[in-house]
Amino acid sequence: MIGIAAPASPQRYGRGLDGLVAGDTRIAELDGVAGRLLYRGYPIGDLVAHCSFEEVSYLVLNGELPSPDRLEAWRSELVRWRRPPDRAIEALARLPRRAHPLAQYRTMLTVAACHIPEAEDSSLDAQWRRPARILSWTSALAAAAIRHLEGAPPVGPSDELGFAANFLLQSLGRTPTAAEVRAFDASLIVQAEHGLHAAAFAALVVISTGADLGSAVLAGIGALSGARHGGANQLAFEMMAGLADPDQARLWARAALARGQRFPGFGHRVYRCPDPRVRALEPIAEELLSRRGLSERWQVYLALRDEVERALGPRGIFANVDSITGLIYHPIGLPATAFPIPFCLAIQTGWMAHCLEYLPDGAMIEPGAVYLDR
Ligand code: ACO
Repeated sequence: MIGIAAPASPQRYGRGLDGLVAGDTRIAELDGVAGRLLYRGYPIGDLVAHCSFEEVSYLVLNGELPSPDRLEAWRSELVRWRRPPDRAIEALARLPRRAHPLAQYRTMLTVAACHIPEAEDSSLDAQWRRPARILSWTSALAAAAIRHLEGAPPVGPSDELGFAANFLLQSLGRTPTAAEVRAFDASLIVQAEHGLHAAAFAALVVISTGADLGSAVLAGIGALSGARHGGANQLAFEMMAGLADPDQARLWARAALARGQRFPGFGHRVYRCPDPRVRALEPIAEELLSRRGLSERWQVYLALRDEVERALGPRGIFANVDSITGLIYHPIGLPATAFPIPFCLAIQTGWMAHCLEYLPDGAMIEPGAVYLDR
């Protein structure tokens, strides 16, 4: 006789697992009502005002801001890994230029990960040795992918520059200005961590199986590439770039609202209030655009933001970080199709921190499903 197990009682879960808590964390605190984001207890606005991405990445990964000696050691470790295996860069030449930069970047990282000698070693010690290598290798690979978009050859690193300046040097093929470095560094800082969002959760599932940190980051990149997630900054910028002036932006927004359009760069699963990352970056974007004589674009952004928020704010839909980062990346000279890449570069810091936090005694993540016979 074949026994049929009694069906498990259906559990309550929201659409897209909305509201489901998947674990404890000490890394970031997100308050979607008050609009606050803190890394290890520090508000992101303070971190933007006082720290570099090197300090913030150390904080996110290790739980405290580095002492001067530790910061120096972390910087040296990041510089040490600025040259990924040649094979990873060479793989780029075989990829179509029209392929999405995140797909190119992910492919190169896969090749690079095969060159980590101890990749199969999933011991805690081995996993902790990986973040600096992953951050610096991916910075070089990301920059090469951006240049490949325009048919330009990769540019070598400069060991004298900080993380943000070196990434811009390798992406643009020129030394960035101090204002560009500061603005880009701020964008890296506010996007370095964001709790267990979809991509971080994808990374966590992979690490929980005993896989290595590189594989976990690759899973995160796949999840981030979707238009609802990390692809929205490109779409948000392209939407704004098509609007000539604030009047046109207002008229267009009203018509789009009337036809029920979904606006890229607006809305968030956690924030039902203004996104704190937007507040931290707005003055920086405004200054950069004005230095470049692009104040009209800033006015277009404000007109669009105000029009959409006036209509959708009462439903908890406000501009999110993806509406503002393009206004920093574009005047620096990064192409719009490449915008998801810097976001990915920054936020993988948080993915790695979540993986390392989970590892010591985390079980394999394997949820069930309610079987429906019809
Ligand atoms: N524009 C217009 N309406 C919106 C938007 C938006 N950007 N976002 C949500 N809504 C509306 C939906 O149409 C829906 O309306 P309905 O109830 O009348 O059908 C309602 O709000 C709920 O939408 P959901 O998609 O269920 O809400 P959720 O909380 O899951 O949405 C999401 C979060 C996916 C980010 C959504 O706001 C969205 O698609 N935004 C645009 C893409 C974007 O900017 N993504 C980046 C998010 S930040 C990040 O990942 C870095």
